[in-house]
Amino acid sequence: MPTKLSPEMILAALSKVQEPELHRDLVSLKMIRNLEIKGDAVNFTILLTTPACPLRTSIEKAAREAVLTIPGVKTVKINMDSSVPNDGRQRGLLELPVRNAIAVASGKGGVGKSTISTNLAVALAQTGARVGLLDADIYGPNLPTMMGIHDLPDTVGNKLIPAEAYCVKLMSMGFLVKPGQPLIWRGPMLNSAIRQFLTDVEWGELDYLIIDLPPGTGDAALSLAQALPLSGVVIVTLPQAVSLEDASRGLEMFRTLEVPILGVIENMRGEFFGSGGGEDLARVAKVPFLGAVPMESSVRIGGDTGQPIVVTEPDSAAAQALKSIAGQVAARISVSALEENSPPKINLI
Ligand SMILES: Nc1ncnc2c1ncn2[C@@H]1O[C@H](COP(=O)(O)OP(=O)(O)OP(=O)(O)O)[C@@H](O)[C@H]1O
Ligand SMILES: [Mg+2]
Repeated sequence: MPTKLSPEMILAALSKVQEPELHRDLVSLKMIRNLEIKGDAVNFTILLTTPACPLRTSIEKAAREAVLTIPGVKTVKINMDSSVPNDGRQRGLLELPVRNAIAVASGKGGVGKSTISTNLAVALAQTGARVGLLDADIYGPNLPTMMGIHDLPDTVGNKLIPAEAYCVKLMSMGFLVKPGQPLIWRGPMLNSAIRQFLTDVEWGELDYLIIDLPPGTGDAALSLAQALPLSGVVIVTLPQAVSLEDASRGLEMFRTLEVPILGVIENMRGEFFGSGGGEDLARVAKVPFLGAVPMESSVRIGGDTGQPIVVTEPDSAAAQALKSIAGQVAARISVSALEENSPPKINLI
């Protein structure tokens, strides 16, 4: 007759299972919830720090195997759930119910920041996360076109309601000025426009707010980085050396501003621009390499027609790369939240 199963036995087995990104075990990370033992059947929930966790199947498998090694356990039922740590409030994100604000930046223009911001936001939303997308390119807003939406809903009270497409909430200067109309603003006005996009817009609760930055390391990027406490920034670069010098300048600017660098994305990899530069930059700057997106005409067409490639051609190489990058970004955010306040702030039940 085997000994009766106890919660302690199950937790002891699970405390040997590591969360591969966070390098701590599932029990001390308080990821095991709702443990139930019914005879020889064990049920529990694993609470991930992001629904976009790229390692969810391997964590589930390792946990299942660990519990099945306990004598007397016949079946293991695992419910995978998630709760994104609230980094935003910790950083005093203008009192917004935004858990993590992530900027997408580069040293220079035209490298694919807006394309990547759009697809990252949609890919995160596809995992079930609550996602907002802020077009901080006040002078050259492209996101309404890339998301295929051109009007805001009616305002409610004195708050702007963001547009919504592909389950992502979107705010852009493109909704407020007519196409082709020039905007001539100076630094302080730019700063206050971006602040208003945060404070006067009814974002609701968000797990991730993706912020598409204007090109360059100029005023706009600088004032945004100072106006808003960012959880982190991803740096987009083209594969070739000249672009890398610009990307490196961008990266160093954020480092100086003490914004965590989540990693480098190489965009437009292929015969035309080559490959490998993103990895080089990541290695030299000692930051993670998040992945490479191939150059594919369907990526551009998706942007031009307002149909992001992660929606229209989810199995294409570019969409797969973008989805994997979204998972990496979410994982890096979880790691940086843990490093700042270990263990992660997830509500105990
Ligand atoms: N992987 C890709 N394959 C093919 N075309 C791409 C890819 N990524 C981006 N593009 C195209 O390259 C052009 C520039 O991209 P995008 O507007 O996203 O760059 P950006 O860095 O935001 O530019 P800006 O600095 O002007 O804001 C767009 O036409 C876009 O569709
Ligand atoms: Mg852009």
